[in-house]
Amino acid sequence: MNKQVPRKVIYDTDPGVDDAMALYFAMAHPGIELVGITTTFGNVSVEQAATNALYLTAIANQKIPVTKGVKSPWVKPGEPPPDFIHGADGLGNLPSRVTTNNAVDPRPSAQLIVDMARAQPGEITLVAVGPLGNLALALKLEPELPKLLREVIIMGGTVNEPGNVSPVAEANIWNDPHAADLVFTAGWKLTMVGLDVTHGVVTHLELFKKIADHHKHVATDVLHHAVAFYSNFYSGLHPHLAAKPGCFAHDLLAFIYLTNPELFKLETGGVRVVTEGIAQGQTMLNRRGYINYPQPGWGNDLPATDVCMQVDAPGCLALFEKTLLSDWLKKN
Ligand code: BDR
Ligand code: CA
Repeated sequence: MNKQVPRKVIYDTDPGVDDAMALYFAMAHPGIELVGITTTFGNVSVEQAATNALYLTAIANQKIPVTKGVKSPWVKPGEPPPDFIHGADGLGNLPSRVTTNNAVDPRPSAQLIVDMARAQPGEITLVAVGPLGNLALALKLEPELPKLLREVIIMGGTVNEPGNVSPVAEANIWNDPHAADLVFTAGWKLTMVGLDVTHGVVTHLELFKKIADHHKHVATDVLHHAVAFYSNFYSGLHPHLAAKPGCFAHDLLAFIYLTNPELFKLETGGVRVVTEGIAQGQTMLNRRGYINYPQPGWGNDLPATDVCMQVDAPGCLALFEKTLLSDWLKKN
């Protein structure tokens, strides 16, 4: 990536601990310019997601527009947020928060996406790491959106790797399968960064301690606290994470794909989402593009998605460590 010309990114997110890791990577990386943060329900309510996005940016001394978006799925009923994974506040139950004074942008998230895409056609990349309702709504507001955005990178879905909310479904897609299917069939340049790669990269808690000790800053202290809670969940769930506390940094990998795509191996094909029934939320990749399947929904007009299938885990970890240890945090 050309470090002289940072990529303009709207970050669609539900922070969320791994969302916070990804946010700070994006802020710290010289190749990324965050131009907007659009929040959605998911790991927490949309109100809490916006509160957390405002807080995380304020304590890192950055001013980026933050909006509130959809508060429930497109069709199916909403469910309580997973407080046992991210904490009731989404950041591992912070014991206290310092006072900050940045305010939410009054536009709905979908409107901010449309406004910025129209104002800078072909310039903006959308990195979406929560349920996909904001993107689906933005598509309804502006059907030309796929031509106005430079590209879309999502964290969500899985092909070979077992799901994390059912044997076949990943959480972001399962949380709003109808919106996700609209996103996969919209026709933009789309990359899926799913569990096939995010389950291959473990970030250990000791790394976040090292980052916090290095900076001695409220922002990296908050991240360390949040990751401790989140690692506790993952270490209790997966035997290979029990010996040394650690976690998956799902959302981070969407930004690493943006800055360093050479760390990933892809398969390309049409993707559809199962919207009902026991396989709800499953992402189905057509891996035989040369076959003209006769079933409706799998025709040659189905847009192709680049799906990340393999990852260079040591490469991702080295990049994350180097970026977070760089001099990116302005002192208060
Ligand atoms: C995804 O679900 C959320 O809990 C995480 O923030 C991530 O976006 C992983 O399945
Ligand atoms: Ca997320």
